Amino acid sequence: MTYNDVRKVFLDFFESKGHKIVPSASLIPNDPTLLFTVAGMVPWKGILQGTEPAFAPRVADVQKCIRAGGKHNDLDEVGFDGRHHTFFEMVGNWSFGDYFKEGAIEMSWELLTKVLKLDPARLRVTTHETDEESTEIWRKVAGKEAIRLGDKDNWWSAGDTGPCGPCTEIFYDFGDSFENEDDRWVEIWNDVFMQYDRDANGNLTPLPKQNVDTGGGLERWVAMMQGKTDNYDTDLFVNLIHATEDVVGVKKTDENTASFKVIVDHLRAVGFAIADGVIPSNTDRGYVIRRILRRAMRHGQILGHRGALLSRLYPALITEMGDVYPELGREEKRVVEIIQNEENAFADMLQNGMKLLDNEIPKVHNGVLSGDVAFKLFDTYGFPLDLTQMILRDKNMSVDTDGFERAMAEQKERSRANTKGTRVLWESLSDLPATDDSTKYAPVADLESRVLAILRDGEFVQSANAGDAVEVALDKTNFYGTQGGQVGDSGDLIKGTDVVMNVVEAGRVDNIVIHKGNLVAPLSVGDVVKTAINTNVRQQTARAHTATHLLQSALRHVLNEDVEQRGSKVSPDSVRFDFSFGRAMTAEEKQAVEDLVNKWIAADMPVAHEEMSLDMARQRGAMALFGEKYGDTVKVITAGDVSCELCGGTHVYHTGEIIRAHVNKEKSISSGIRRITMSVGTLAE
Ligand code: SER
Repeated sequence: MTYNDVRKVFLDFFESKGHKIVPSASLIPNDPTLLFTVAGMVPWKGILQGTEPAFAPRVADVQKCIRAGGKHNDLDEVGFDGRHHTFFEMVGNWSFGDYFKEGAIEMSWELLTKVLKLDPARLRVTTHETDEESTEIWRKVAGKEAIRLGDKDNWWSAGDTGPCGPCTEIFYDFGDSFENEDDRWVEIWNDVFMQYDRDANGNLTPLPKQNVDTGGGLERWVAMMQGKTDNYDTDLFVNLIHATEDVVGVKKTDENTASFKVIVDHLRAVGFAIADGVIPSNTDRGYVIRRILRRAMRHGQILGHRGALLSRLYPALITEMGDVYPELGREEKRVVEIIQNEENAFADMLQNGMKLLDNEIPKVHNGVLSGDVAFKLFDTYGFPLDLTQMILRDKNMSVDTDGFERAMAEQKERSRANTKGTRVLWESLSDLPATDDSTKYAPVADLESRVLAILRDGEFVQSANAGDAVEVALDKTNFYGTQGGQVGDSGDLIKGTDVVMNVVEAGRVDNIVIHKGNLVAPLSVGDVVKTAINTNVRQQTARAHTATHLLQSALRHVLNEDVEQRGSKVSPDSVRFDFSFGRAMTAEEKQAVEDLVNKWIAADMPVAHEEMSLDMARQRGAMALFGEKYGDTVKVITAGDVSCELCGGTHVYHTGEIIRAHVNKEKSISSGIRRITMSVGTLAE
């Protein structure tokens, strides 16, 4: 059976059992408690919690997942066995208040033993020590006596809070070539019975419905069906490994196998994450991806390779997986460019960092490098801690990790103090002219801007270096700086033909646009740069903003004309909207609002962007924000005949560009004020 066959058998089986088959959601979850989509259930958290309606009672899919850098973290295991991955695909089936323990266990058993025809003697099951019911079902359905285990093994949740419950796990016997029982018996499927919601204090509340969330690692299933004991020997990986052999010019052997596994695993994580919109950076998920990319490069070095690696391997990933995940090919140009920028920056840092390390190594006492030096390597040269550890391991040395953590905590404290103060610092530059951002609505490709000021670590500097976190003011910019509830643009500053800075977000202090982010090359005051916004993110934000206007109109239609906006946050593909209303919305009202917004999107109405006098806008009946001050000339955004608002944000030109809207949640935030959250675009789809 090929990889594609295994996928198909799984989906076909659950389709035949009445499940709706859906495509994978993005690796970037719509969930602030998680860095990545770590399991198939992540997109369904709201449904499991009962805060979102289920779109079908039974659902199945194969979901892209990354487990790195959070509660579910497999990064450090990768390479040392044949089973762990940072990126993997999870097969899963769900019941949202439909079948429960019996249905789930029966279907799992039927698929494994009747369809995939696995030998029941090679399957073992575990249940939670308190779960009599599942244990009894296993006896009845499979004649199996489940091994009973505690919370550590048989209780599952995605994050520290949210839906959770006891689970039953199925293990497969990969044969006696393994001496160790734990290596031999591998978990291939986890059926979780989502019954509770856990709050921040650890309290469990029963969920409104009893749900099922199952998940299995597709890579393990493929190995199992292909009779392999190592996932990396299956058809999912062999071609990627051959491509790596070609690029590095070395064949895979027993000795260097870990480096090959790391490279192909990390290629998948980095490639898929960037294709889904993650940008390598120094914080959060961007940092995890940067770290994974650097770890792959380090293993390239161990194999004797210098220079570009993952950017050269990415086309092989498209060949292998682009049919199933068309976004890989669609985003190729952007992904390869981002990886190349990272690779170039890393090569420079590595060289400089190695110089520092070579100087420090002779001074090391008792084989332990000081935490401060390791932190300097991290902070100034971009060496992740595990990279430093890896280099030292070859020399039988280690790092004082406590000292490293201490230095890191001190740095965080410093930067917290700094961010509090940056507004004040910018305000203190009284002779800085207002930024000319007149091109922000229609960015100009060859707009040339001059660097007026650079802020680093709480100080204005004349120049800063690759790796520095900085805030930069320019005389002109295409970037939209955070304003009126709309988050600012992200993108790059380009010097000549090269990226000099990754702008994570453009903010605003009064009439100055502040470009915040990380340098990938040196930058000085007076330099001429081009401001290249990330047009994907811009489009995602524009559709969220126009959708916010439709949402306001829909609320006034469905609830009443008195509904008024009290605040909003417009982010890429998501909207938070606060409005005046005296009670909770009913499920029917929420649905009616969502349906109306989607009806207006489907009607593909033109969206007019006009400038006019405030009087004229008033005559048109444009809605204005309560308590807001407006100038004499205002921008008016009119969507068909359903919405007309004063607004300085960025918008789409036809409502059809919004693609789709989905109301996630509605709740009270203070007396008489409600908050509604909505996803739009591909996220809503
Ligand atoms: N959420 C569970 C897991 O990831 C089952 O899908 O193991």
